[in-house]
Amino acid sequence: MITRQEKVSLLPYNTFGMDVKADWLVEYGSPAELREVLQSDLVQRHECLVVGKGSNLLFLSDFRGVVIRSRYRALSVLREEDGAVYVEVGSGMVWDDFVAQCVERGWYGAENLSLIPGQVGAAAVQNIGAYGVEVKDLIHEVRTMEMGTGRKRTFTQAECRYGYRESIFKKEERGKYVVVSVVFRLGTQPRYCFGYKHLEEAVRQRGDVSLGNVREAVIEMRRSKLPDPQQWGNAGSFFKNPVVPKARFAALLAEHPDMPHYYVSESEEKLSAAWLIDRCGWKGRNLGPAGVWGKQPLVLVNLGGAAGRDIRHLAEQIQQSVHGCFGIELQPEVNYIGE
Ligand code: EPU
Repeated sequence: MITRQEKVSLLPYNTFGMDVKADWLVEYGSPAELREVLQSDLVQRHECLVVGKGSNLLFLSDFRGVVIRSRYRALSVLREEDGAVYVEVGSGMVWDDFVAQCVERGWYGAENLSLIPGQVGAAAVQNIGAYGVEVKDLIHEVRTMEMGTGRKRTFTQAECRYGYRESIFKKEERGKYVVVSVVFRLGTQPRYCFGYKHLEEAVRQRGDVSLGNVREAVIEMRRSKLPDPQQWGNAGSFFKNPVVPKARFAALLAEHPDMPHYYVSESEEKLSAAWLIDRCGWKGRNLGPAGVWGKQPLVLVNLGGAAGRDIRHLAEQIQQSVHGCFGIELQPEVNYIGE
């Protein structure tokens, strides 16, 4: 069923806890309904924003347009071959519910991404990642509809042009397509990713290396570091980890030998935004109702009653200080909506 509401609070649809309003909220439950929504006058004539759980958005003001949400949560197994299962999942399924099902059914690949907030559609746009895995590693194809026409278009994994927290849906084709469903390719034989050194230790402490134990270890690690958005509004990591050319990295490392860094390619190295922010003295600090989380300074939190602009102001101050201390420009990972 398609539902359409006017002047709706977006409080339940953004994890930062911003009490902003949208002119309209339209929700759909199937691909056929999405086509009807996309071809409607309302959508054709107004600005539209597709929102899942809003776990990567910062609303700076009310949204003067139509917010579109998916309630399409179907999961179907398409085929099984060569040690892999191909599963199509509706964009409105809660990401972590999907991970829980994978673990239950013995499908390998998604377990390191346990407890990441958001829905399946947004996960494919954002290329969510944690503990050495990015969702692009599991995506076979992304099925979409074109915003203005409702025409179907399937993007192969390569066509999605995935990068670190990047995809074609955030860049060249931003706002042009709505994700209908995602086809994942998961393993049916045991295979784990323990690239992140603390994860394997945490799993072994629980006993056997199993999907269930990996999921539980990840959940415990995330809970110990990251604030629960129900309690402290936040959108996970606020900034991306900066990627810098090797020469720049060598100069920084000479000055700061204890600086954490991760290999990206022959020409580039990734630095830790959390470490840079920590070194600039921001950990646990706040500017009014906007705070920097004490256990993971990459996460900015709404300490209660913060407006989007308070969070943006804090983010800008942090960017200035990191630029002043290290000459590095931190880029927000969170998308600002409005002005
Ligand atoms: N660090 C500090 N001070 C702190 C905390 C961390 O200096 O208070 C340094 C440490 O050196 C630590 C390093 O930062 O080793 C990295 O910290 P962490 O392992 O928490 O990972 P991250 O790079 O800060 C990324 C993702 C997270 C993901 C974790 C785990 C980004 C922007 N963030 O954070 O993703 O959960 O790795 O894999 O890539 C998200 O995107 O919203 C998110 C939470």
